[in-house]
Amino acid sequence: MELGSKIFCVYRQKGYMDFRSTKTIKNILGNGICLCASLILFSCVNDNEEDLVPLSNTPEGTITFQTTVRPIFENACSECHSNPPRNGAPQPLVTLEEIRFNVENRNLLGRINNLSSPMPPSGLLPENTRALIEQWVDQGFINQ
Ligand code: HEC
Repeated sequence: MELGSKIFCVYRQKGYMDFRSTKTIKNILGNGICLCASLILFSCVNDNEEDLVPLSNTPEGTITFQTTVRPIFENACSECHSNPPRNGAPQPLVTLEEIRFNVENRNLLGRINNLSSPMPPSGLLPENTRALIEQWVDQGFINQ
């Protein structure tokens, strides 16, 4: 693409030389088009997937409740820690505040890493899933 635009530029430049005698307006126009074509091609070449991701206020690497943590709890905990709780679970773990309270007061991180009485009771979550929750806690319970 970029090579194409260069060739196009050279071509226009040659035109400039050949038609030196004709008045400059045409040449200015020609160079203008050349510049535009280069800019358009350049911007296309530089497009990548990251540019297409919607902008977020949070810096890269930030784990947020809304995007990452809430879906984990919905999948792994809401069967019992719903509001109201079911299956003998003592408390809901639905909102950020509820989860934060349980991290700070009810040893939530201890329970999701506890082999002998794990949460969920069916067995520990995958290590990277637990790491995401821990990172979210370390980063200060960011909502979104
Ligand atoms: C199948 C039902 C079920 C699921 C799913 C489940 N829990 Fe529990 N949870 C319970 C029950 C029942 C208790 C109370 C008995 C106990 O502490 O083991 C409990 C207790 C807890 C406690 C201790 C609360 C306290 O006050 O001592 C925490 C923390 C907890 N669960 C977190 C979680 C998290 C986090 C998840 C999801 C990753 C989860 N649980 C998934 C049933 C469940």
